[in-house]
Amino acid sequence: MTDVDTSEWSAHTDSIPSPEVMGLKEMREVIKNVPRYLSGLRDQYGPVVRVPMGKTDAFLVSDFDVVQDVIIASSRRFDKDAQKTGPGPDDWGSSLERVLGKGLVTSVGTYHRRQRRLIQPVFHRQRIAGYGSAFASIAAEASANFTEGERFNFHEEMYELALGMVTRTLFDVSLESEAAARIRTAFPREGGPLRWELSPFGKILLHLPLPANRQFKQGLQAVDEIVYGMIEDRRRGKGDGQDLLSLLLQVTDADTGEYLTDLELRDEAITLLMAGHETSSGSLTWAYYLLGTHPEIRERMHKEIDWVLGDRLPTVEDLPRLMFTDAVYSEALRLYPPAWVLVRRSLEDYRANGYHIPRNSVIMVSPYVLHRDTTWWPEPERFIPSRFLSFEDPFDSFSGQAKAPGRPKLAYLPFGAGPRQCIGNVFAQMEGVMALATLSRHWEFEPVGEPPNRVTSDFTLQPRGGLEMVAHRRR
Ligand code: HEM
Repeated sequence: MTDVDTSEWSAHTDSIPSPEVMGLKEMREVIKNVPRYLSGLRDQYGPVVRVPMGKTDAFLVSDFDVVQDVIIASSRRFDKDAQKTGPGPDDWGSSLERVLGKGLVTSVGTYHRRQRRLIQPVFHRQRIAGYGSAFASIAAEASANFTEGERFNFHEEMYELALGMVTRTLFDVSLESEAAARIRTAFPREGGPLRWELSPFGKILLHLPLPANRQFKQGLQAVDEIVYGMIEDRRRGKGDGQDLLSLLLQVTDADTGEYLTDLELRDEAITLLMAGHETSSGSLTWAYYLLGTHPEIRERMHKEIDWVLGDRLPTVEDLPRLMFTDAVYSEALRLYPPAWVLVRRSLEDYRANGYHIPRNSVIMVSPYVLHRDTTWWPEPERFIPSRFLSFEDPFDSFSGQAKAPGRPKLAYLPFGAGPRQCIGNVFAQMEGVMALATLSRHWEFEPVGEPPNRVTSDFTLQPRGGLEMVAHRRR
């Protein structure tokens, strides 16, 4: 229990600004785009907002000092197991936990701190740079499959691309492999038990004998068998020892000399598989949507890619010169951060901007909301990649304030920050920029149909129902 004396705190929880209770019609509108709704709440009610969520309340915090406390400095007073505050028996757990076990995304406390310490070196920049040629060749394979004038669901293609990147680097297998096929059936892109978790009756649905639940269970079992099989293969010395799974097998605890157990390896491998493709597929989809609706920016990126690459595929050594392409990807991550909300549980009473947030509350820090703070992002809804260039941009008529010198680190959080920061951030940025450079050597994409105002935000931020595009060959 906390020794904080809350009796003198200036403002009670009930006085925290909060929106009126919603009618059904209003709620339907909100569900179409929850991140946008939260952004509106911050604009209307300020840096601490109480958001009623059924039986419980959640608190949306956007003040940098509070954000710093919640996700960086006071990690021992906040943890990630926010599902424990929800309705339903504790032992139901979350479906995410049933899939990922105690991998890095779902584990908490001292267990998480140990696993993170052990696994961090595997994601060292130089190690990840070793996957550069895999990133480029997988994107080149995808590029070879587009047809001039073809209209297709672009999001699905990016999902396949990101899945290909992660299965190749993690297990050294291709998209045609049994592993990739099993993953697709067990974890469909939209809907299914994995995504029911956050829907209003999700926890109940998970416990009904529905066909989707059976398929999920069987699928998970099949994926488990494959992962355990791969661990076994590597123990027998199969493979070139360079994939992420092989590196995880070599990890040892410096204090005890112990290796990760098979169960720990399984949990971490499935975690990386899921965390690694769900996010990146969304970011590439949004990046191409933005490029498709901003031809002048697209042209400029093409010029850079043609100038740097000529007729060849990108390598990791090209990345420092693909500055504008990198800025395009960063700006897409600002406008549409796939991990649009970071959720924590308060382990003790806490004071945020003078307000009392009780122990065991859900606290939300939203990169989507912070990325629209006009102090640091003038005209926040505009797509302006040059915000991420560190020099005056001769091509951009937008005023110099777009660069916002002195912009604080917490104003831009696509990969989170602090002890739970994305372990794959270098992987993701490299993969994203190399995919953009490779696909855009030959193709540009034109969005068709309605703009993607309706989004799916159960896990990550994705255009709902995908995104239709038409492919046009550039050269
Ligand atoms: C554009 C792509 C990506 C984005 C936007 C993204 C974003 C994030 C964010 C914001 C977090 C922190 C969540 C929190 O604080 O609650 C996170 C955690 C994590 N990400 Fe990523 N991610 C991306 C790609 C990847 C990739 C490619 C991998 C692995 C190959 C990966 C593996 C992980 C893992 C394991 C964690 C949990 C880390 C921990 O808690 O110790 N991510 N990611």
